[in-house]
Amino acid sequence: QPVTVLPVPFHHGASRPGTDGGPQAVLQAGLLEKLKQLKRPATILPPLEWQKLSKDRRSMERMRNWGRVQAMNEDVAELVLSIAKSGAFPLTIGGDHSISIGTIAGLTQHIQQLGVIWIDAHADMNTPKTTPSGNLHGMALAASLGLGDARFTNMYGVNPKLQSKRVVLVGSRELDEGEKRNIYASGISCFTMHDIDRIGMARVMERAIAIASYGSEGIHVSFDIDSVDPGEAPGTGTPVRGGLNYREAHLAMEMLYDSGRVTSADLVEVNPSLDPSGRTARLAVELIGSLLGERIL
Ligand code: ARG
Ligand code: MN
Ligand code: MN
Ligand code: MN
Repeated sequence: QPVTVLPVPFHHGASRPGTDGGPQAVLQAGLLEKLKQLKRPATILPPLEWQKLSKDRRSMERMRNWGRVQAMNEDVAELVLSIAKSGAFPLTIGGDHSISIGTIAGLTQHIQQLGVIWIDAHADMNTPKTTPSGNLHGMALAASLGLGDARFTNMYGVNPKLQSKRVVLVGSRELDEGEKRNIYASGISCFTMHDIDRIGMARVMERAIAIASYGSEGIHVSFDIDSVDPGEAPGTGTPVRGGLNYREAHLAMEMLYDSGRVTSADLVEVNPSLDPSGRTARLAVELIGSLLGERIL
């Protein structure tokens, strides 16, 4: 199956700039070469030029830059939908995690009952009522589940876009008080770092894949690079210690490939301005390789 890469250089869903350089860093770290090596026919779309399409500066304390986040996501949704319709695998490279509102909005127009595995140090389950920061990247999963402001929950028509019984968090270790309530109230599944420590990444991923597969036509993997320990992935805006180690992250991606159920992915929150070594972007390319079938032997 061919892969179509959508670069989304965007940072207005986060506090600090820099993730707008994420797509270029991941491309420079060898994404196209990796796809070739895996013999995947690949198309890299031109980076989404949301700035040209929207100078919308509307903002609120509890939904910072919502005008730009909304405009960008409408474009992302349309492009991801057309990639999915073309039969290719949509791979969206961020950008901050607010871009996943758009990918999920587009995908759910095409795939019935989409399952989602959200691999992240955070849950991104805030709403404008619970957010401590006002940053929309911390509200992306909530919005896709129908929680929060109508500007985002209603994007592209369907609300809610996801059913909580097919949504799984993996790698959580920094949850705000309001998010904990939203996780329980919504009924999504959550495998924290504690669970990974106790039962191991292999069993966590088996369960996560089973949950996201249940009655679904496909699984969307939304991979926030801050799920990985900051020792391996320092180039990200909201690092949290105690994350996935190098092999746990690869194992998760390899098992997702082996499941044969993954139909799309996001790779977000790479911030090259915080990582002069470039290792975070290189790790992102390697992890995409594992997700798309790279094997040790
Ligand atoms: N929970 C915090 C907030 O709502 C941090 C969110 C970080 N999200 C991310 N996609 N890196 O602001
Ligand atoms: Mn800027
Ligand atoms: Mn995130
Ligand atoms: Mn995160």
